[in-house]
Amino acid sequence: MAGNRTLTIIKPDAFNSGKAGLIVALLEKAGFRIVASRVMQLTEKQAGAFYAVHRERPFFTPLVRFMTSGKCMPMVLERADAVASLRKTIGATDPAEAEAGTVRKLYAESKERNAIHASDSDRMRSGRRGSSSLNPSSSKSRNCKDDYRRAALGGPAGGRGLELHHDRP
Ligand code: CMP
Repeated sequence: MAGNRTLTIIKPDAFNSGKAGLIVALLEKAGFRIVASRVMQLTEKQAGAFYAVHRERPFFTPLVRFMTSGKCMPMVLERADAVASLRKTIGATDPAEAEAGTVRKLYAESKERNAIHASDSDRMRSGRRGSSSLNPSSSKSRNCKDDYRRAALGGPAGGRGLELHHDRP
């Protein structure tokens, strides 16, 4: 059975240009519920591990540079058939190829600066450890704290993990 949770990240281009609220509204309109969220700036190590599956691709280094260039907003989302539904809602990687009404068609600048990431699997797969370590949907648990730990997003340390909060400037 397809999982009902998935991880998404509003990327630095969209977050920095004030599109986070519009994107969240679109996701909620598409039936997703936000289970956990935070605002953070990824380190090179985190971004590199998250996108490890692309390590050999020519766009890997610019991708890591872009993902660490500013704050982003990872979220755990819940909805039936979450992974496939979210990928449909965000649209094709390249906004030029994305369907009308999708997040990327509306808010992405380019294939490289494409506003949002969505997990492409809800399974732990060999060779995908980097990205699946940030993929809370690999968890069968319905516990938000577990999602946070699995997403390696800082966790609910000190009990403040599950509310949306800004990092200190
Ligand atoms: P995302 O869904 O986050 O997954 C990998 C990212 O690599 C992708 O979105 C794009 O932002 C980025 N990327 C940059 N260049 C390419 C490319 N040529 N093909 C696929 N992804 C690319």
